[in-house]
Amino acid sequence: MSVVKMNVLTVPPEMREELERRFSNRAGFVESADGFEWFELLRPVDGLDRYLVYTRWRSEEDFQRWTESRAFQQGHAQAAAEAGAPGHGHAQDQGQGHGHGQGHGHGQGGPAASAAEVWSFEVVQSTGPKS
Ligand code: HEM
Repeated sequence: MSVVKMNVLTVPPEMREELERRFSNRAGFVESADGFEWFELLRPVDGLDRYLVYTRWRSEEDFQRWTESRAFQQGHAQAAAEAGAPGHGHAQDQGQGHGHGQGHGHGQGGPAASAAEVWSFEVVQSTGPKS
């Protein structure tokens, strides 16, 4: 049974562009992870301030393996470098993501998201359009 894991990122209005820029430069490692099925970055509309990083996996174990992998660390190297703080707990000494740390956009180097939490679901039913 597939599982859906959504990382829910609270993003202040002035950081939206920055967050989307980071994702448009994302590492692209997740595509190669074993058991990976789908990714979407979902932008909130109607005044909501939480982006959903939607991912779908063949199994819970595949997702867990990815979060413990080097690919996950590398995929988050930029975020970790810019956060420069514990709490993310990933991506030390990767030597990646440098050169973006400061001075762009809003002149601040902090993370684009002010909070993050993971939502987990099992896929009970799934369908697409007829042919
Ligand atoms: C503290 C928690 C997290 C934060 C703040 C965060 C934020 C980010 C940011 C800003 C990026 C863009 C790339 C970059 O800047 O390095 C990214 C990449 C990504 N994140 Fe997260 N993330 C977190 C944890 C997670 C978790 C738990 C998941 C899974 C549900 C996830 C899924 C992804 C995926 C799929 C990518 C694209 C990586 C690739 O292309 O290989 N993130 N994340």
